[in-house]
Amino acid sequence: MSIPLRRGLALLLLAANTTWAADVEVLHYWTSGGEARSAAELKKTLQAKGVNWKDFAVAGGAGENAATALKARVIAGNPPTAAQVKGPAIQEWGREGVLANIDAVAQAEKWDSLLPPAIASIMKYKGSYVAAPINVHRVNWLWVNPAVLKKVGAKAPANFDEFFAAADKIKAAGLVAVAHGGQPWQDATLFESVALGIGGPEFYKKALVQLDPAALSGPQMLKTFETLGRIKTYIDRDAPGRDWNLATAMVINGKAGMQFMGDWAKGEFTAAGKKPGADFLCLPAPGTDKAFSFNVDSLLMFKVKDAKSQQVLASSLMSPEFQEQFNLNKGSIPVRAGVPKTRFDACALQSMLDMEAASKGGSFVPSLAHNMAVGSATQGAMMDVIARFMSTNLAPKDAVAALAKAARTR
Ligand code: GAL
Repeated sequence: MSIPLRRGLALLLLAANTTWAADVEVLHYWTSGGEARSAAELKKTLQAKGVNWKDFAVAGGAGENAATALKARVIAGNPPTAAQVKGPAIQEWGREGVLANIDAVAQAEKWDSLLPPAIASIMKYKGSYVAAPINVHRVNWLWVNPAVLKKVGAKAPANFDEFFAAADKIKAAGLVAVAHGGQPWQDATLFESVALGIGGPEFYKKALVQLDPAALSGPQMLKTFETLGRIKTYIDRDAPGRDWNLATAMVINGKAGMQFMGDWAKGEFTAAGKKPGADFLCLPAPGTDKAFSFNVDSLLMFKVKDAKSQQVLASSLMSPEFQEQFNLNKGSIPVRAGVPKTRFDACALQSMLDMEAASKGGSFVPSLAHNMAVGSATQGAMMDVIARFMSTNLAPKDAVAALAKAARTR
């Protein structure tokens, strides 16, 4: 999907927005229980600064529907103040000439010294800040209900052998071993954690970030699809179309034992009053304890008339108080330096340590499923293949060939 915009759109945009009010309209897709608590925090922060929040929520995990709604609004010459857009898509929007430059805020607040350089550069278009980052989500997690493990006599899995041993016991007890929703982005979330666990970070980077044809067609990719095929047999038949938070609810209420999902799932556990270690476990996905696949949420700023309110929004997003409370609710960790760690739980502290170690060790890798690794056209084509593998009887070797071909899409 490239972004189909007409020439001269930037001028049209400037002309179209005529009313002034201390309002910000923010397009996001934070609609589950834990996510809504996080969005409410942003609304509260802005209202305390005299800025009114116009909610533009578009339901649909990982923002597939939100991206479509955003294109329609920009093409109509009426963009929101900001939208949740991440990774390489920020550059795609930059090329359309519709973004606001927020360097004035970023320089005054020294964002360059507060953000990891790799993340700061994702937020910039041609050297200027156009987006504000809020958090770091880790994608390669396995969420586990320890009461289910206990009931079936299984132990918390650290590798694929232990994972399949636990899954067999959970399935034999008549429960769902792997809670999953059959939607392309959830399929891709599972796929990338398996690829990271099977092939390791070097393979992951070569295949899913650099799109190296040899890695994409090699034995580790075959083993990734074979493992994925095996995991499929532990997913219940009602999975197609199920929302991710409903899959998490199955783990919360003990209908299922485990779920592969990023740590926005933790927001669901905590919103339900559950405690890490006691009511749920956050384990690195099998074989990925040394790696960290990252997903940074950011709000992308569009050219709008009310630049003042937009700057208040940008500044609020990067404030330590906001990043603390938002991330406590969201399940992620702050992206900027200088946020106190004292109120974060064991999963978040683990994430902070693992992020530091992975950054030093070259195993901090961008998430494919969550728009961090490749451009949107390539990502869409690759996710189509993964979803087809999950929902049909496509053989692993045919999936490997199809994925390698899809990776050439630009
Ligand atoms: C991710 C996003 C998270 C969360 C999740 C489910 O892509 O970064 O903030 O919303 O999708 O929608």
